[in-house]
Amino acid sequence: MKIILGPASKELGERIAQHLNATAVPVFFKTFPDGESYVRLEGELKDKEAIIVQTTSPPQDSRLIQLALIADAAKRNGAKRVTAVAPYLAYARQDKIFLQGEALSIETIARMLKAAGVDGLITVNIHEEKALERFPFPAKNLSAIPLLAEHFKDKGFEGAFALAPDKGAIYIAEQAKKVLGGECGYLEKHRDRYTGNVSVEKKKFNIKGKTVIIFDDIISTGGTIVAATKILRELGAEKVFAACVHPLLIGDAEKRIKEAGVDEIVGTDSVPSHVSKVSLAPLISEELKGEFS
Ligand code: R5P
Repeated sequence: MKIILGPASKELGERIAQHLNATAVPVFFKTFPDGESYVRLEGELKDKEAIIVQTTSPPQDSRLIQLALIADAAKRNGAKRVTAVAPYLAYARQDKIFLQGEALSIETIARMLKAAGVDGLITVNIHEEKALERFPFPAKNLSAIPLLAEHFKDKGFEGAFALAPDKGAIYIAEQAKKVLGGECGYLEKHRDRYTGNVSVEKKKFNIKGKTVIIFDDIISTGGTIVAATKILRELGAEKVFAACVHPLLIGDAEKRIKEAGVDEIVGTDSVPSHVSKVSLAPLISEELKGEFS
């Protein structure tokens, strides 16, 4: 198995290669003056399982194109099979037609990757796992929530309350609860499909004086975490943490989250940033070991 280091996830790719004791294949890449992407693989792939590690967080479109070009290059250089590891899978939130006239974006992306040479995909905490059922190749979703919860347990927050900011994410809070051993709950969130504004319904939880960790798949604008934190603070939570798999942190999200009363944001290296304190490398490596050895 060879691990191709996609430009968006070079460090994560190197960590995975180390875990697996596999050869890493660097990618030379550049952007032409007109904005087009160029890639060149710097290693042998003939008859090998090629694993491309490339997250597709912002700038999504150029990272998706890089992924497609790398898959094409891998196949042309004799790779037996190409598996894309895209911890953050762009366009996954548009997995339904919400308003008439929309595109089913995630399916379009999957078909594009298949056409480029991708034979299988591994992603992490995709917004709705069901979306993968319609992919034109085998696609697997892993959960990094237990790893995030372990991080907090190691920091001494065993027994903390695990909160999902949305009913649909209750499975996330339940996975965290299994590790932390405290209670868990969820809020009811509503998002206006036209304005994108988020409102969260207040609920009563017995969290006075307790530590609460909000677990979510993505923090994008921070609107969800800000709305949830206001409620937790009103209910008397002593400490509030925000944990997410994909810390996109668009614009001033981090500042707004801190101002709302979050003590710390913890994310993974799905989207490399200064809050990426948990690595996905052990999780992804175990999956690759199971699939390919
Ligand atoms: C959506 O339902 C997701 O689970 C996240 O809660 C959402 O994407 C976060 O977005 P934002 O940070 O913009 O509120």
